[in-house]
Amino acid sequence: MAPETSGAAVRLDGIVAGYGQITILNGLSFTAPAAKITTLIGANGAGKSTVFKTIFGIVRPRAGSVTIGGEAVTGFPARELLARGIVYVPQGRNLFPTLSVRHNLELGGITLGSRALIAQRMEAVFARFPRIAERAEQQASALSGGEQKQLEIGRALLLEPKVVLIDEPSIGLAPKVVADVFALLRGLADTGVTTLMVEQNVRSALAVSDHAVALEGGRVAIEGPAGEMLANPRIKSLFLGGHMEQTG
Ligand SMILES: Nc1ncnc2c1ncn2[C@@H]1O[C@H](COP(=O)(O)OP(=O)(O)OP(=O)(O)O)[C@@H](O)[C@H]1O
Ligand SMILES: [Mg+2]
Repeated sequence: MAPETSGAAVRLDGIVAGYGQITILNGLSFTAPAAKITTLIGANGAGKSTVFKTIFGIVRPRAGSVTIGGEAVTGFPARELLARGIVYVPQGRNLFPTLSVRHNLELGGITLGSRALIAQRMEAVFARFPRIAERAEQQASALSGGEQKQLEIGRALLLEPKVVLIDEPSIGLAPKVVADVFALLRGLADTGVTTLMVEQNVRSALAVSDHAVALEGGRVAIEGPAGEMLANPRIKSLFLGGHMEQTG
């Protein structure tokens, strides 16, 4: 029987990973608790996106393990992870810009293997995002930046995920849209979705998170409850200085 991944904690243990000869993650270990939001913070180039690529089977670790809901999934290809309800919304733009909104959503459901199920799930996404529903037949590139990010999230939600990895969702979005996206993630976590987020918008991200992990030198520098991180002097000086904050 497959291990139960519902309310699945994500655990990294001794991960060593990088690109070619270069090591980026150097013995990284932490646990993102089930049904909570865990935010990864760290300087540019600290390896935050590499953590997600490693969990999602895009970067293969040289050592260490990734466990989701008690099941070892180290190095599993993306397809195997999607089948287990683990979805990844990468940094930047990830839509097919010339395809319609509807077509982008359909492609997100392809691993479901059933047209009827995809159609049913798409209706649920349209109900959640009325602005996306109104524009279903338009090219994805015609949506605003915030709407495109919502569409990417909607596409990920088609799989009714147990685990969401979301990298820098707030980039380029208006503060009101950022608040909507964070509220959506909070709602998902409160219904049992384990959420891992990378954010430069550290103060706002920590405010909506349960747990936080700060990376430095390819390892965990500081880890703890998100609320405590906001008050941590080291976190303040490293990550909450003026230039990295969008909303103060
Ligand atoms: N495909 C790649 N090939 C070689 N080096 C890479 C590759 N992707 C990332 N790197 C390097 O690995 C390091 C970590 O990159 P990563 O994208 O994980 O950082 P990050 O913490 O997400 O940074 P940012 O905040 O800028 O998004 C950086 O030095 C980056 O240049
Ligand atoms: Mg990154």
